Amino acid sequence: MTDIETAALRFAREFFAGDAAGHDYYHTERVYKTALILARREGADRGITALAAILHDVDDRKLSPETALTKKNAADFLSRHGVSGEMAALILGIIGDVSFSGGRIPDSIEGKCVQDADRLDAIGAIGIARAFAYGGSRGRPLYDPVNTGASTIGHFHEKLLLIKDRLNTSSARSIALSRAAYLEAFLKEFYAEWNGEA
Ligand code: ADP
Ligand code: NI
Repeated sequence: MTDIETAALRFAREFFAGDAAGHDYYHTERVYKTALILARREGADRGITALAAILHDVDDRKLSPETALTKKNAADFLSRHGVSGEMAALILGIIGDVSFSGGRIPDSIEGKCVQDADRLDAIGAIGIARAFAYGGSRGRPLYDPVNTGASTIGHFHEKLLLIKDRLNTSSARSIALSRAAYLEAFLKEFYAEWNGEA
């Protein structure tokens, strides 16, 4: 790990202290680690991938609405640590694409790795835990058979089950296989218990 990555992780740890709605510091740490695995497999630049991954949520519109457009938290961090204007522009561009609501496919392979790592963290066992934590923080019911969309189970159908087919890299698609199967098995069991069949 380079010095600037260590500093960025420390910055993220302070930034996310106290979040209990699925965006805690460990989400950032996982995205960073997964993005580096993808970057190695995909031949992406390590430094750019690492910094974009660590800083990808510090200007998130839910957590820092006042800097969501300018990406000031990430931009200031990069300039404080002497990152060149050209490299900072690449990193900030990736963060913008990854956080764009609905997602915008980044042009660079580094951006594709960061976006895939972020999406992989929304599926599998951790993805399930994050979804219920987020839904709870917004006062959403676990499941509502009448108004499915307003529940966390609704979010599985609207977003989480689609993730495996929306990944950019084949390395991420291969990691997604078992995580997506786990999600599907979870839903099957959830409905069986709900219906008194298990
Ligand atoms: P990201 O870290 O990918 O930017 P989001 O901000 O979109 O993630 O969401 C953070 C976490 O909250 C993810 O695990 C996501 O699945 C979950 N989440 C987002 N919207 C909802 C929702 N309406 N219901 C339940 N979970 C949600
Ligand atoms: Ni994220």
